[in-house]
Amino acid sequence: MSMETAIAEKAADRAGLRIPAHLAVIMDGNGRWAKARGKQRTEGHLEGVKALRRLISLCIRYGVEHVTVFSFSSENWSRPRDEVNFIFGLLHRFVASDLATLLHNNVRVRIIGSRDGLDDGLRRLIDDVEVKTALNTGLELIVAFNYGGKSEIVEASRRLAQAVAAGRMKPEDIDEATFERALYTSGVPDPDLIIRTSGEQRFSNFLLWQGAYSELVFIEENWPDFGEETFLRALEEYSGRKRRFGGIETRSP
Ligand code: FPP
Repeated sequence: MSMETAIAEKAADRAGLRIPAHLAVIMDGNGRWAKARGKQRTEGHLEGVKALRRLISLCIRYGVEHVTVFSFSSENWSRPRDEVNFIFGLLHRFVASDLATLLHNNVRVRIIGSRDGLDDGLRRLIDDVEVKTALNTGLELIVAFNYGGKSEIVEASRRLAQAVAAGRMKPEDIDEATFERALYTSGVPDPDLIIRTSGEQRFSNFLLWQGAYSELVFIEENWPDFGEETFLRALEEYSGRKRRFGGIETRSP
């Protein structure tokens, strides 16, 4: 056991919590956080980045292995152009300002979503951060950017259909395992827990396939107010859940 894992397990033990191997988060409410304070929406997104840093460090401390965050949905293109540009700029700035810290903390980064509609600079940035962190063995940070669950399923279907048309696969080879390998999240276990902030109780096209048996926890606070207290509250709720995965025998998370 590595020193990092041992420390993480101690922290979780102390708090008496079960830790999800894969935690997914819908970071909602940046705009409302800003509006409530008479600020611009963009200020809410800037505070959202700070909350994202807190989430990453909490995941490292408590021994979460994979964390997926919803940072730009394929439906978010309908927002005002300036706001879309600002969020795209945030991804650039986040990578520029945090890559060294991510490397230092042994974090591997994967960015999932459609690359269509992203400019060349952003594509290069995504490739670069993935390549530079690929050999890290600690927390895997999965950023869903320009992501939509339905289009992920459609893309996977198209990929499998192409493999069949090319004679590399037979229709009867398509099963849940081959389908999962065609998704953006290939090789990542399904999320055990999905947290959504800001009181909204919807999936909003996030991890539709992968979330089939995830536990859901909804938090009233807006995303910029997320911190250790809200993280622990969500984990406490998750720790009390009985997961049955469609069966009748109870299995704890
Ligand atoms: C949801 O709040 C937030 C977003 C759509 C953008 C999320 C961006 C971050 C949290 C920063 C991290 C981003 C990157 C790229 C690293 P909202 O705008 O939907 O809030 P509202 O529902 O109150 O309007």
